[in-house]
Amino acid sequence: MRPTVYIADIAQHEGQEITLHGWLYARRSSGKLHFLQVRDGTGTIQCVVFKGNVTPEAFHEADHLPQESSLAVTGLVKKDARSPIGFELDVRSLAVVARPAREYPLGHKDHGVAFLMEQRHLWLRSQRQQAILRVRHTVEKAIRDFFDQRGFTLVDAPIFTPSACEGTSTLFEVPYFDLGKAYLTQSGQLYMEAAAMALGKVYCFGPSFRAEKSKTRRHLTEFWMVEPEVAFMDLDGDMELMEQLVEYVVQTALEAHRRELVSVLERDVSKLEAVRAPFPRITYTEAVEVIQRTGHPMKWGDDIGGDEETLVARQYDRPVMVHRYPSDLKAFYFKRDPADAKVALGCDVLAPEGYGEIIGGGQREDDLATLEAAIARHDLPAEAFEWYLDVRRYGSVPHAGFGMGVERCVAWICGLHHVRETIPFPRMMERITP
Ligand code: 4AD
Ligand code: MG
Repeated sequence: MRPTVYIADIAQHEGQEITLHGWLYARRSSGKLHFLQVRDGTGTIQCVVFKGNVTPEAFHEADHLPQESSLAVTGLVKKDARSPIGFELDVRSLAVVARPAREYPLGHKDHGVAFLMEQRHLWLRSQRQQAILRVRHTVEKAIRDFFDQRGFTLVDAPIFTPSACEGTSTLFEVPYFDLGKAYLTQSGQLYMEAAAMALGKVYCFGPSFRAEKSKTRRHLTEFWMVEPEVAFMDLDGDMELMEQLVEYVVQTALEAHRRELVSVLERDVSKLEAVRAPFPRITYTEAVEVIQRTGHPMKWGDDIGGDEETLVARQYDRPVMVHRYPSDLKAFYFKRDPADAKVALGCDVLAPEGYGEIIGGGQREDDLATLEAAIARHDLPAEAFEWYLDVRRYGSVPHAGFGMGVERCVAWICGLHHVRETIPFPRMMERITP
């Protein structure tokens, strides 16, 4: 085999004879010329097969190849002003690596989402899904870069855990040898709190699992979350970190993928350009007033669900930070506001355009006795939290952190209706295949 040239690098090979490897996306013919659209994962190029340039067998073959045939195409790289990539390949020889065993199920017609989801392993080959996966890659890299540049240490949290972090109703149980039951992690937070007392500034970045019985466009049962945790940081510092992260991730993705966002995903990128810190900040109490003014019957103390989030976020052109929710709505670990014990020192970041909560977090309870009481009040098994209480027993300090969900961020950046398209192989209540 000749060394492969990738379509993304084609400009460096103008005038040369090269070989590229890829899959046939589409073809058409004008008799003496066959036009093959070949994609290789880095781009798509038109390969022009002229009768006089190839063997009669190859010329015949080029007009009969089914979609998704895998190919090695050798030819001359030529500048072409009409091409979206500026070049085409003048074919000299063509080798079929493998012919599809059956007709490709995802031809060039429209398919329903249920069918596409069933064919997810093939659907990934579409231009649109490739674009989304590239944005996801950039978002994940931007997250890592953001924390690494600020001196955070990546600390991996366990996936099997002995207890709940985010409420007992969404735990996935796994049998665990003689020790009884384990649960798939809902969040690495509790472990990051311990690690922050060792390393100061830490984050974990991995999959989280929630047995969510909600079939909404924002919920997966397996999703990826980044969770920073910082010793000696309060809620204000936490909120600054949240908005800096969101701005950095959105602007980095926009810079790297502007062309795909506009032309493949048809995203209105002016909405993303507006995502600049500082973000507006309102209390839960103010958010309730905003919601009530729209005629919604919500009362103080009710949870802000997806629909209510949209009503609040609609008031702003950038993400809005809602802080100080009622303590009763929040997990056991939140610190109460010393100025008003009814509310917790927590903050959610709500994305604009109806994308809802992308970040949840806040300042942790650092007082041993208060935390013990909260664990009891939430009916959590005390012995499973003994190690966590040690974090308060030995040199407890104010500390804070948050979790940002990758899929909700990618859905928002790409302008997608549902988070299921943001993860290569989505896991939802009604889906575990492919
Ligand atoms: O608000 P959540 O539940 O917060 C926590 O898990 C904290 N322990 C994080 C922390 O402080 N270290 O989840 C955080 C984020 C949400 O804002 C959302 O972006 C995402 O995780 N998320 C989900 N994404 C997809 N599907 C689900 N079922 C999700 N649940 C949460
Ligand atoms: Mg939350």
